[in-house]
Amino acid sequence: MTQAIAMTPVTPARTTTEVSAPPPAGRSRRPAHLAHHFDNPRQQFEAARLGMWMFLATEVLLFGGLFCAYAVFRSNHAELFAYGSRFLDTTWGTINTVVLILSSVTMATAVWCAQRGRRRELVLFLALTFMFAADFLGIKYIEYSHKFHDNVVWGLTFYEDPGPGAAGPPAQEPATAVALEPGDAGAGRTLYLRTCMSCHGASGEGLPGLGMPLRSSSFVADMDDAGLVRFVEKGRAKSDPLNTTGMVMLPKGGNPSLKGQDLMDIVAFLRVLQEQSASETPPAHATAEFVIPTSTIAAPPAGPPGLARLDDDFNPIRDAPAETGPQDPRYDAVRPANAHVFFGIYFAMTGLHGLHVIAGMVVIAWLLVRSMKGHFGPGYFTPVDLGALYWHIVDLVWIFLFPLLYLIH
Ligand code: HEC
Repeated sequence: MTQAIAMTPVTPARTTTEVSAPPPAGRSRRPAHLAHHFDNPRQQFEAARLGMWMFLATEVLLFGGLFCAYAVFRSNHAELFAYGSRFLDTTWGTINTVVLILSSVTMATAVWCAQRGRRRELVLFLALTFMFAADFLGIKYIEYSHKFHDNVVWGLTFYEDPGPGAAGPPAQEPATAVALEPGDAGAGRTLYLRTCMSCHGASGEGLPGLGMPLRSSSFVADMDDAGLVRFVEKGRAKSDPLNTTGMVMLPKGGNPSLKGQDLMDIVAFLRVLQEQSASETPPAHATAEFVIPTSTIAAPPAGPPGLARLDDDFNPIRDAPAETGPQDPRYDAVRPANAHVFFGIYFAMTGLHGLHVIAGMVVIAWLLVRSMKGHFGPGYFTPVDLGALYWHIVDLVWIFLFPLLYLIH
């Protein structure tokens, strides 16, 4: 291999006399932009492009890590994302998406102009691209400043009271405000296992210290479907006269993403559980008060409760579990538990993207200055071409970010 390279001289071998002789005529015709270690402009262009693509590959890895974090957190707590996303302004997000797509068009046109030596148009389209990039950042600034003002940020600040007048997510319609179809027990089972099982057990047997038995509950048996939907929607506070355990039943079991029809499906599944319970003899150790799970396998420890908007009767200082203490944001009464995770991911991803937009603007400004000096033309347009490649990937990242963050509720 080494030998093969050594034996294929790229330039004719020179003798000592040739070195001391004046440079051959071809040398003086080397274009000014051609670096000394390249044979010709084409080779230089290809090398620069390859370098750019390698850099872009590292960019994909960088953002890829954040997209992985997004995927993991969202699959674990889809309800946090659905909730958090309601704080984002879809109108500004849409405008920014359009602005960035336009900027990609003007940047591609700039490359076209550079290749054809249209200098005035090149300057114009680079200036337009710069303007669109600045628009994007301006809109991002508006969005960010609203969020900082309302404490809609990452970390524990999210749970600090932002004071009166702060924006919250738009209120949801009461589930029972719309006419509901009879529930589907199959769909209800899936929803039940996702939201209610952690306290009420997989077959409604009730987990001691977490939730009451539902399969044998006469409260469930005696109430009609609409009444039960209304009950689950509201939950049961500690101070409720019907409360027997001294524990809170969170509105919608702590999962505000459940819609009215979902609750109907869950109620249909509760009916199935009740029928099963009626046709079996209760285990000997079961009491009318509380059914001890029949499984010999210990119930798994309750995971973090995920999103939970707690009602006014729940005082985070008084009711916080001793082991976590009142400072634990999961027991905050004002803002739902763990919702700050969404904003951590939102700011990490859009912030990193914003830094890339700033870097792109620096590059575009540099290209603009050079194109005004007439540096680019059909013979040399590498910087414009590579700058455009970078700008397209910055746009592409946003094309993914926008739906994944703004359009998921
Ligand atoms: C974080 C734990 C928790 C989750 C999750 C939860 N519940 Fe409950 N639920 C409770 C507790 C605690 C009670 C009992 C409150 C009391 O003492 O009356 C209760 C009571 C109930 C009751 C009244 C039972 C009776 O006999 O009075 C129903 C019905 C009910 N839950 C349905 C649901 C449904 C449906 C879901 C899922 C959407 C759900 N719960 C999710 C904790 C939970």
